[in-house]
Amino acid sequence: MDDTPLRTPAALPALRAAARDAGFTMSCDARTGSLLSVLAAARPVGRILELGTGVGEGTAWLLDGMDPDARLVTVELDESVQAVARGELGGDPRVTFVGADGGTWLEEYFSAADEGDAEPFDLVFADTWPGKFTHLERALDLVAPGGTYLIDDLDPQPGWPEGHEASVARLLTELEAREDFRTVRLAWASGLLMAVRTVSRR
Ligand SMILES: C[S@@+](CC[C@H](N)C(=O)[O-])C[C@H]1O[C@@H](n2cnc3c(N)ncnc32)[C@H](O)[C@@H]1O
Repeated sequence: MDDTPLRTPAALPALRAAARDAGFTMSCDARTGSLLSVLAAARPVGRILELGTGVGEGTAWLLDGMDPDARLVTVELDESVQAVARGELGGDPRVTFVGADGGTWLEEYFSAADEGDAEPFDLVFADTWPGKFTHLERALDLVAPGGTYLIDDLDPQPGWPEGHEASVARLLTELEAREDFRTVRLAWASGLLMAVRTVSRR
């Protein structure tokens, strides 16, 4: 079966060209993007969080699947790469771009949630260090019951820093040991894991 996505976001060619020009090579691949669209489409009026905007390819796939009433927050440390996403996608009122360190943002959002000012998310695409290799608990705390936490780039890649393979193995073990999430590994695209927060039964 050929699993090349047939339907792609309109902004994708421009984002890919900008990524090439900027030498940015960390965008999600098209199959992961198509899964993001499907997961977003499964959440009408959904609240979606992306950690690590990059130039906005994942953002574009998420927006492509979202309904008109869904909302997306995407957080990025590097303002120069996020500027590409803002330029191409910033006209869409469903997306809020945040220029911040993801760890700081997670800590601050968590505090606000404690005070009742912040709501959980139905889908979290954790695509950078914070929310995945650091601040994992904080990111998982923001997943609503029945909500999905998705990570990619789990298959070994050339150029991984020393020790990263062991970090990935620890992350998978930690996620799969949790009682409050059901998980599935997807040996596909760059290697994904999807975790869904279970709804406690009476
Ligand atoms: C894998 S790329 C994101 C790709 C994007 N989600 C996509 O699907 O196309 C990871 C991004 O995380 C950003 N980043 C690195 N450290 C970060 C941090 N502490 N907080 C927020 N973003 C960070 C990088 O600048 C990079 O753009």
